Amino acid sequence: MSDVFFVGCGPGDPDLITIKAKKLIQKADVVVYSGSLIPEPIIKLCKKGKLYDAAKLVREEIFDLLYKNAKKDKLVVRLHDGDPAIYGAIREQIDNLEKKGIKSTVVPGVTSFLASAAALGTQLTLPGVTQTMIITRAEARTKVPKREQISELAKHQATLIFYLSVHLLNKISKEAIEGGYKKTTPVAVVYRASRKDQKIIIGNLSDIAGKVKAEKITMTAIVIIGDVIKPKSYEYSKLYDKTFTHGFRKAKTK
Ligand SMILES: C[S@@+](CC[C@H](N)C(=O)[O-])C[C@H]1O[C@@H](n2cnc3c(N)ncnc32)[C@H](O)[C@@H]1O
Repeated sequence: MSDVFFVGCGPGDPDLITIKAKKLIQKADVVVYSGSLIPEPIIKLCKKGKLYDAAKLVREEIFDLLYKNAKKDKLVVRLHDGDPAIYGAIREQIDNLEKKGIKSTVVPGVTSFLASAAALGTQLTLPGVTQTMIITRAEARTKVPKREQISELAKHQATLIFYLSVHLLNKISKEAIEGGYKKTTPVAVVYRASRKDQKIIIGNLSDIAGKVKAEKITMTAIVIIGDVIKPKSYEYSKLYDKTFTHGFRKAKTK
C-alpha cells in the first residue's frame, strides 16, 4: 500500500509550485484536485494520471478515490491550492485513511496570505509596530469559536489576516473597530494574489468595504488589517544593527 500525498501547489502562479509538488504531480497515477482554485497549467503537469475534480465530489467520494487507489499501490495525490494545512480539510481524510492502515504525507505549498504579502511588497511583522500575525476567518456557515470573535482578536492590535471572508468586509470592519482598532487603521485586500488578474485594494477600516464592493470582489481574496500595511513609523531590525552582536557576527561599531 502506498502513502497518499496531500500536496500544496501554491496560490496560482504556476511558477510558485515547489519542485517536490511538481515531481509528484508528474509521476502520479491519480490526482484529486481542488478544481475551483487550481490553474490549468498545474493540472496539465499531470501527464499520465487520472484526474478528478474534488469540487464536484463529497467527502466520502474523495475518500474512496484516495483509499481504493492507494490500496492498489497507485501513486495518489490530493492536490490543494496554497498550502494544504490552511483551510484545506485534510485532517479528516488523513485520520480516516489512517484507520484503514494508509499513511499520508503532506507536502507544503505557498499559501495565499504570503503571496498577498509579496504582492504588497511588504512585511507583516515590523519592529515597533507588531510582532504577531493572527490568521482567521469571519463567521458565516462555518462557526468560529466565541473566544475567536473578531472583536476579541482585535484587542491584540496585531496584523489580522482573513481567509474566506472578503464578502463579509462590513462585518469585519465593524467588529474590528469595536475591538479597538482605529477607524483609520489601514486594510489591504489582495484578490487572486500572484495570478495575472491580481488586484490590490488599499483603504482603511471605514472605507475598505465600499472600495471592494465597487470592484465587485466577493471571493478569492485575502484581507489584511493592521498598521504594517502603511506604517507611520517603525524601528529598524536589531539583527542587522551594527551595535548588535549575535552568534554569527560581532558588533561592527568602528
Ligand atoms: C478554502 S481556502 C484555501 C486556502 C489555501 N489552502 C491557501 O493556503 O491559500 C480559500 C481561500 O483562500 C484564499 N485564496 C486562495 N487563493 C488565493 C489567491 N490567489 N489570492 C488571494 N486569496 C486566495 C481566499 O481567501 C479563499 O477564499
